[in-house]
Amino acid sequence: MKTKIAIVVPAAGVGSRMQAGIPKQYIELCGKPVLRHTLDKLAQLLVVDKFIVAVSASDEYFQESYLPDARFVRCDGGKERADSVLNALQVLQDFSPEWVLVHDAARPLVALTDIEKLIRECIENGEGGILASQVKDTIKRGDTYAEETVPRSALWQAYTPQMFRYQELKSALQTALQNGVTITDEASAMELQGHPVRLVAARSDNIKITTPEDLPLAEFIIQQQEKSHV
Ligand code: C5P
Repeated sequence: MKTKIAIVVPAAGVGSRMQAGIPKQYIELCGKPVLRHTLDKLAQLLVVDKFIVAVSASDEYFQESYLPDARFVRCDGGKERADSVLNALQVLQDFSPEWVLVHDAARPLVALTDIEKLIRECIENGEGGILASQVKDTIKRGDTYAEETVPRSALWQAYTPQMFRYQELKSALQTALQNGVTITDEASAMELQGHPVRLVAARSDNIKITTPEDLPLAEFIIQQQEKSHV
């Protein structure tokens, strides 16, 4: 029997660091909103049965036509990213997928080949994992002054998608939120519950659109990807 897989796309943030006047997922890159780039890319994953897109209830920019096909459903987002993800996971209750991937709306540059690798490695090994890349820069800890140089050999930058068993992720997020723990990604909720989180090495151009200087870089990467069909 086919493994049931769903993807949750949190898209309910305001993107205050972008200072753009509109939420960053609606800024246009090469003439198309960031959110549409992300959803159009994910729609190419034919192994995925269902997609839940969490959008703020007060969002004035979202259009139903942004949902690429009948597998996509909109739900309301929540106060924090983890609340948006949990709302989307509740919507999946009846569908009850075995695995769920969570992918930020603000990461339109992710390579399909990396997502396919993540899905393959998680299913083959029977454990959750995330796309990540080894830190390249020298890392300093400090405030105004550097207090120390942190060894970087075991440091990874965490990206999305992050893929876990549906029931385990739902219960890990519920527990974290009930305990008032700040959760910036799904993996941290899983780590707190003692679940393994595989680090799946990925391309480092899977940036999260966050500040204005990300925009020309993202447009350049999109143009390169269109040429090479990534
Ligand atoms: O703000 P940040 O870049 O960390 O947001 C990551 C992703 O989480 C974005 O796609 C954003 O739209 C989403 N988000 C959400 N609900 C919130 C806050 C952020 O779905 N309350």
